[in-house]
Amino acid sequence: MSKVLTINGIEQMSRDAVAELGWAQAGSMPEALALPEAERAGVTAVAYYGHTPFGGTEMDAFPNLGLIANFGVGYDAIDVTAADARGIKVTNTPDVLNDDVADLAVAMLLDYCRDMRGAEARLRSGAWGREGAHPLQRKMSGQRAGILGMGRIGREIADRLAAFKMEMHYHSRSEKETPGWTFHADPVSLAKSVDYLVVALVGGPETAGYVTREVLEALGPKGVLINISRGTTIDEGAMLDLLESGGIEGAGLDVFLNEPNPDPRFAKLENAVLQPHQASATRETRTEMGKLQRSNILAFLEGRDLVTPVN
Ligand code: 8YV
Repeated sequence: MSKVLTINGIEQMSRDAVAELGWAQAGSMPEALALPEAERAGVTAVAYYGHTPFGGTEMDAFPNLGLIANFGVGYDAIDVTAADARGIKVTNTPDVLNDDVADLAVAMLLDYCRDMRGAEARLRSGAWGREGAHPLQRKMSGQRAGILGMGRIGREIADRLAAFKMEMHYHSRSEKETPGWTFHADPVSLAKSVDYLVVALVGGPETAGYVTREVLEALGPKGVLINISRGTTIDEGAMLDLLESGGIEGAGLDVFLNEPNPDPRFAKLENAVLQPHQASATRETRTEMGKLQRSNILAFLEGRDLVTPVN
């Protein structure tokens, strides 16, 4: 048995590389936990994929585990405190996905504003000829945009929206050096000041429910919410209530609670662009994420410094 175990499957773009390295594979955490004790004891590094919890109990099933290398920048599924307590290092895949995630945030906003999906359906169905032009939509350029969480991804989104001639506002843990963008000390003040609010927070317990009902109400009935962070960062029940009642105008969402089976209320919304958590899902970026994950594992196995350590 290999010292490296991949859990939750291997991203399509990395299959050949992982086959060449001969790493063992478990399709899910239950499958990994069901491996014979001697095999689990041989595992020193895990290549992890996905968003199901990897906590202390799971870590204890691998008594010689020294590294969890996450496929993704967000590592909220991994209990880093539990890893620290066991001397387990954690790595992630930052930066290589910033462009794709920012692109999808902008694409959802553009699609929401211009209803490209509805307009295309009109053409495909022949309704254009039968019923005439698609109803007028909403202008995206030149409006007021707010970024909640000005980290590396938030900054990429902000740079893109600024290029759409938007008036830029943001809220972050600290004020950043920005080209004249307005800093807000709290998320309610930010939401009140903008037409479009993009959530780009890191996931995890510290940001759980950060976008409260009050923040959403401050965004208001003409406001549009975009989320590419984690389902946990928003009070999802409040968001659904307000999207259904017109308390906010609409949304573009790539992340949800209970993925991959989000609340069925989402599917009934006509005022939302919904994506199945695919912001980083391009061949190019997934290739780079896989390479970075493997570089961290190989560095660990060879006793070198980890490339992108979390703890
Ligand atoms: C996922 C992501 O990791 O990087 C992140 O934090 O959310 C994504 O890139 C990817 O979808 C694999 O689950």
